[in-house]
Amino acid sequence: MAVDVLLGLQWGDEGKGKIVDVLSPDYDLIARFQGGPNAGHTLEFNGQKFVLNTIPSGIFNPKTMNLIGNGVVVDPIILKRELDGLKARGFDPVADKKMVIARRAHLILPTHQLLDAASESRMGLGKIGSTLKGIGPTYMDKTGRNGLRVGDTQLPDFKERYQKLVNKHLSILAYYGDVPDFSEKEQAFFEAIEALKIIPQVDGEHFVNQYLQQGKKVLAEGAQGTMLDVDFGSYPFVTSSNTTTAGACTGLGIAPKNIGKVIGIFKAYCTRVGGGPFPTELENETGEKLRAIGHEFGATTGRPRRCGWIDLPALKYAILLNGVSEMVMTKADVLSGFDTIYACTHYQYNGETIDYMPYDINAITPIPVLEAIPGWNEDLTGIRAESEIPTKLKNYIAYLEKHLEVPVRYLSVGPDREQTLILS
Ligand code: GDP
Ligand code: IMO
Ligand code: MG
Repeated sequence: MAVDVLLGLQWGDEGKGKIVDVLSPDYDLIARFQGGPNAGHTLEFNGQKFVLNTIPSGIFNPKTMNLIGNGVVVDPIILKRELDGLKARGFDPVADKKMVIARRAHLILPTHQLLDAASESRMGLGKIGSTLKGIGPTYMDKTGRNGLRVGDTQLPDFKERYQKLVNKHLSILAYYGDVPDFSEKEQAFFEAIEALKIIPQVDGEHFVNQYLQQGKKVLAEGAQGTMLDVDFGSYPFVTSSNTTTAGACTGLGIAPKNIGKVIGIFKAYCTRVGGGPFPTELENETGEKLRAIGHEFGATTGRPRRCGWIDLPALKYAILLNGVSEMVMTKADVLSGFDTIYACTHYQYNGETIDYMPYDINAITPIPVLEAIPGWNEDLTGIRAESEIPTKLKNYIAYLEKHLEVPVRYLSVGPDREQTLILS
């Protein structure tokens, strides 16, 4: 048995949460492999909407186990809030024995968030546009070998370890200026640690591999998107983890040979939230129309998402890096009513026409070369069968498959679980 991976091919918010929920009945285990509460994964079913930040998107399926993997960074305060919110709505994945957490996952401290804010406020125009959840500083402490891990909460000297790390943070914060009072947050942190301790802690690497040895099916759930990968994204306007397939190996403890299908997800157009280059961005009425129809506002921060046309060189790059074997296209319904839609096939970059992602798209933003494609008018949100797909949308999908050389296996035509079609 192999681990299938579902991950974003653009700049995040492609609809990963919705599709993991849709696919979860086919899997025994859903395992989040990286990122933290910078993620906002939205699911809708039976007229209810949920946004998950840390918790894997398989928890609503009665039979699926869920793992928060070692590659994830966990804010206990946010995790507790997520669990309390779910409980208030009748879902309790811990009591139902449907969720475990890897001992090796790193903890986000209140001072990590202060560091994030201090660093961003210094950057001025070069701001990353971080979600300010403390993601970057926590991964820095992980690779800097200073971090605190979930398993450490069981140690008798956890508080001393916490204080040692906080003291280091305070000295860095002093360099930035005054340190704000965080005593309330600190109290909330220690309360949340008690709640965290109720979640069964596992050696995630053994946990996942046991599933494989028993012939069970595992789906690794990514967060963010390929263009936010710390190595291959639009650096430095990226997040601080590997959002690509390789991140599933290190973020869960799976050998590369045990990776099965890689399911890449993309929107029928493209969005980005936060700073950094976005070659196909539409800073005009069309972009505003996409934002309004697509409700393009961040699930975590509520910030307006920047909108633009689909970017084929960026998608090709993402497919290459991840070894994508099949794709999901979401939000096709948002494009209904556009007479003409556009796809970026190439970039003009530094006096040349290229079809790949160049090293530096910050200093020189590539200018998109756009191809016009006839749009469709039909409302797609009620479509449930492949035979009902309008011809012009079929043509758009065929066009994308021809350029990207990977099949589109699923089409999403609305936020609800039911609004999902499997394509032949
Ligand atoms: P994620 O971070 O990749 O899980 O995506 P988000 O949840 O941040 O953003 C995707 C948004 O689009 C959410 O509000 C979803 O409910 C919504 N969504 C997902 N698929 C579709 C779709 O096919 N059509 C429409 N209109 N909305 C969708
Ligand atoms: P999901 O999983 C979209 C963006 C931020 C910022 C940059 C760095 O919901 O797709 P960070 O908080 O990591 O320091 O922010 O990355 N970003 C996301 N954009 N979707 C996300 O997650 C994101 N997580 C981080 O806006 O530009
Ligand atoms: Mg999101």
